[in-house]
Amino acid sequence: METKLIELELFTSHREVAKEAAQLLAQGQVIALPTETVYGLAADAFNPAAVARIFKAKDRPSHDPLIVHVLGRGMLEGVATVPEDIESAFRRLTEEFWPGPLTIVLPKGPRIPENVCAGLPTIAVRAPSHALMRGILKELGRPLAAPSANRFGRISPTTAGAVLAELEGRIPMIIDGGATRDGVESTIIRISPAEKKPLIEILRPGPVTKEMLKPFGKVKLVERARGSGTLPEVPGQLDSHYAPRTPLLTPATPSDFVPEPGKRYGLLSYRGDGEDGFLSLTPWAAIETLSPGSGKIIEAAVRFYALLRRLDERQLDAIVAEPLPEHGIGLALNERLRRARHDGPLDPSSPS
Ligand code: TXA
Ligand code: MG
Repeated sequence: METKLIELELFTSHREVAKEAAQLLAQGQVIALPTETVYGLAADAFNPAAVARIFKAKDRPSHDPLIVHVLGRGMLEGVATVPEDIESAFRRLTEEFWPGPLTIVLPKGPRIPENVCAGLPTIAVRAPSHALMRGILKELGRPLAAPSANRFGRISPTTAGAVLAELEGRIPMIIDGGATRDGVESTIIRISPAEKKPLIEILRPGPVTKEMLKPFGKVKLVERARGSGTLPEVPGQLDSHYAPRTPLLTPATPSDFVPEPGKRYGLLSYRGDGEDGFLSLTPWAAIETLSPGSGKIIEAAVRFYALLRRLDERQLDAIVAEPLPEHGIGLALNERLRRARHDGPLDPSSPS
């Protein structure tokens, strides 16, 4: 299959592009498109055959549920139901954060085919803020199921080039809207009623931070299981997610990293500052810096996956990632690093 790349330039009519995309989607095709978080691989969420194409293009196992994208609360009919006991919390949260990078897990509605939710009784929904994605949702008039547009288990794409590297020849269309604004996937939450204020459990940290959610309830971060072969409490949260092909090491401090002689290491640095103690550890074969200078965590997030991807292309024996500040979106970045981390010796097959 030939993959058509459509670039959104200054004079491109978004309306025309949205129409062309909506036409393909209405025919049951899948297309890759930018959102404010990462690029998504979208299909008509009401069409099980179209949704099956997402799983096929990504080599995604069928037990990993997708996120469904809507224009807003008005598009939830048949998609999800909002239980009465969390209605007011849901309304307050969506008034504040929709459209935007907040995904909410709700009971599944009757129009959503089983394969979207991997057979679960719940569904993850969000209203994206990206203008083109919204234009396509309007043209199509139906919700879009869309996981990140990478092969299963690989690094999420934040540029159209990264999508091309992952899915060229497997999908008919990629819309190039430039680098994405937030750089990491949406925050996923679950809301439960509680006595005083509602309980908001963060199932996946993201751009809507713990601090931002605090005014809306009691916020709890649910640690995602790692290392278990079975389905963890949060479905689809397999540890292989977000991983580069190159082994990734995540030393908590510089002295926790002991380089092996003769190996080529790359460093994912936060500020590129010698005082952080990592730069002088070894003659690095490659160094990428997330936010040069004083270190800004939001800038680090925007560049995170692209730089990880760049290091992954350098034929290194291992990538060493410096720990990032544990506040704001830094929580999400550290979580992605922990989950992509390599355990054990670098090349277990060779005797040492
Ligand atoms: O920012 C994003 O959320 C991006 C863009 C494209 O919108 N999408 C995204 O989708 O990150 P994906 O498929 O890469 O991640 C979806 C994750 C699943 O792995 C699963 O952990 C969670 O959403 N999920 C989906 N349905 C769920 C459910 N019913 N309950 C709990 N978690 C669910
Ligand atoms: Mg993903």
